[in-house]
Amino acid sequence: MLRTTPATREFTDAPVPDAVIHRILDRARFAPSGGNRQGWRVVLLRDPTIRRRIQELYDLGWREYMAHVDAGLVPFAPDEHGRWNGPAVDLDAARRLPRPNAFTDSLDKVPVLLLLIAQLSVLACVDNGLGRQSIVGGGSIYPFGHNILLAARNEGLGGVLTSVLVRQEPAVRELLRIPEDHGIAGLIALGHPVRTVRKLRRRPVEQFTTVDRFDGPAFDPGRS
Ligand SMILES: Cc1cc2nc3c(=O)[nH]c(=O)nc-3n(C[C@H](O)[C@H](O)[C@H](O)COP(=O)(O)O)c2cc1C
Repeated sequence: MLRTTPATREFTDAPVPDAVIHRILDRARFAPSGGNRQGWRVVLLRDPTIRRRIQELYDLGWREYMAHVDAGLVPFAPDEHGRWNGPAVDLDAARRLPRPNAFTDSLDKVPVLLLLIAQLSVLACVDNGLGRQSIVGGGSIYPFGHNILLAARNEGLGGVLTSVLVRQEPAVRELLRIPEDHGIAGLIALGHPVRTVRKLRRRPVEQFTTVDRFDGPAFDPGRS
């Protein structure tokens, strides 16, 4: 299943029964988290008016993202010292430029939309204060997010975990009454996939695993 769970962004109109959504979440909840604090919250987005607003806000984040891609930049990436130095593109201008995209433009019609929220005050961010981009906090939330995708796959569904909506967090916070000590981790779209699974493109183990040193020899069981 790990090899065959792609990012699915095209769905049929077939609805997903509540019992299936519940089963997916019921399986995903066995994800690990720092100190087993389980600081995730999920908001199932159903109201068409709220969905439309979420689509508009997602689109703004998508525009910001694409402005970086067009400039040949990794969107919102830290610098070579692992720190973020502010926007690398003009974000106001980026938000004004429409970026037609089939998934973005029909986001409000996706069969299931789950907003993934993290309670920040229970995240053990053990890399805080290292003077670089923090990573560890998200590790207490995203395994749960990926479990949702795996559990959905197990139900014959496809989906994608998205992040660009986070760019508009203040507006989403107000819209959905999200408290200050919570942050948006992502928006998960689920539904019946239009296409069957294709082969996923991923780097081989030897390309990202070395022995004893970061610059040590590639881990290759066939050679040792
Ligand atoms: C943290 C994270 C953020 C992502 N954000 C978005 C997003 O905002 N929009 C989107 O369409 N896909 C998003 N994705 C999906 C990735 O683009 C996708 O996982 C990747 O391209 C691999 O796709 P594949 O499994 O189909 O090969 C995100 C994935 C992750 C893990």
